[in-house]
Amino acid sequence: MANVSGSGRDGFGSRFGVIAAIAGSAVGLGNIWRFPYVAGENGGGAFLLLYVGCVLAIGIPVMMSELIIGRRAQSYAFGSFKKLAPGKPWTIIGALGIVSAFVILAFYSTVAGWTLEYIVQSLTGAFHGKTSAEFKTTFEGFISGSWWPLIWQMVFMFLTAIIVYMGVQKGIEKWSKILMPMLLVLIIVLAVRSLTLPGGMEGLKFFIYPDFSKITWDVVLKAMGQAAFSLSIGMGALITYGSYIPKNNKLSSTAFQITIADTGMAILAGLIVFPAIFSYHINPTEGPGLAFIVFPTIFSQMPGGDIFAVFFFFLLAIASLTSTISVLEVVVAFASEELKITRKKATIIGSLAITFVGVFCTLSFGVMSDVKIFGKTIFDLFDYSSANILLPLGALLIVLFTGWFLGKKNVRDELSNGSLLKVRLFGAFLFIVRFIAPVVIVFVFLKSLGIINF
Ligand code: PHE
Repeated sequence: MANVSGSGRDGFGSRFGVIAAIAGSAVGLGNIWRFPYVAGENGGGAFLLLYVGCVLAIGIPVMMSELIIGRRAQSYAFGSFKKLAPGKPWTIIGALGIVSAFVILAFYSTVAGWTLEYIVQSLTGAFHGKTSAEFKTTFEGFISGSWWPLIWQMVFMFLTAIIVYMGVQKGIEKWSKILMPMLLVLIIVLAVRSLTLPGGMEGLKFFIYPDFSKITWDVVLKAMGQAAFSLSIGMGALITYGSYIPKNNKLSSTAFQITIADTGMAILAGLIVFPAIFSYHINPTEGPGLAFIVFPTIFSQMPGGDIFAVFFFFLLAIASLTSTISVLEVVVAFASEELKITRKKATIIGSLAITFVGVFCTLSFGVMSDVKIFGKTIFDLFDYSSANILLPLGALLIVLFTGWFLGKKNVRDELSNGSLLKVRLFGAFLFIVRFIAPVVIVFVFLKSLGIINF
């Protein structure tokens, strides 16, 4: 394995490998499944506008901060704070990240499991000639059936564990490099298809025309949460990945490119989902099932749709896999390096524990659908709290650490690769991580909780 950092740690081999692996973490169900359903529930165009605002004000600075911290410390999230701030309570960020990883992977693996079921369904021609109403019924029947969703969830967790176990470069980098560009091509084809559907323009209008009357503080919170979730920030996954980045990589460009790729993917997913919703009369507020109703409907109505469907769900499963490995890696790196158990053991114990919690998320669409906590099913609670509470909280602490604790010199040094590169707009970056990003996060939290009002 490549040892690019010279410290004996496993690392990413090439510049493209870095981009592909981090983009692999960022691009996943968050873009294609979660973004359209949350945007659909929260006003469409208005949500998109807030989302892009949050990506700029919070997403980019937090992503840069995570990469800076990880590469500076050459360690995973928890270890990084121990190294950079010995004896200080900043390790709480690492601990919070482990909680987030558990919560995210538990419900994410449920949905990732659905993608596997849909690969099989599309392979067996089950999409033929069905209407959107029939797809809705099939989907609801499937998720409430418990057994298959559970089996697929476990298969998915098993695949994740195998890749994490195989190690950084051989596993993560190789897969991401080949398959992510393929997903992009397919998504573009589908967007063109959807936009040219009869009535598709109505959907486009819903998606890009901001209706400001739809904006509430709750919508802002959800846009912020979606931005954090989609960019994989706020839990230290990118701190760990940052530690694998070669010393000569320009972190600011890497963060920008990944943000553009991730946001582009989400927007493309919107350009597929919303025109199709209007064309096929599907309800935009369908919730977590939205993508699993819309996409099959598009495929069933499209020439060659069977083949496209197989490819699409396969690539979506892979995109999810490159995300879940980055989440599991947070837990495994902590367990193996901190608790001093072997990587193998850490992977097995970590993935079993997460799968155990995940079972409840899957069952909350079936036999446990009546179990409600704070009025939400277990799945909804995990989905909601990870994106809207845990990740923004982690993001807040991360920018505060970078802006106020890491030290100007260290930050500049990491951004300039030890003064080899010219750092443009350093003052602006520092101002954003010190003031803008933290103030925005705190403000949105307090406003949406109704704590401040004026
Ligand atoms: N960003 C991933 C997605 O969009 C999910 C994720 C969240 C991965 C947090 C890592 C950390 O699917």
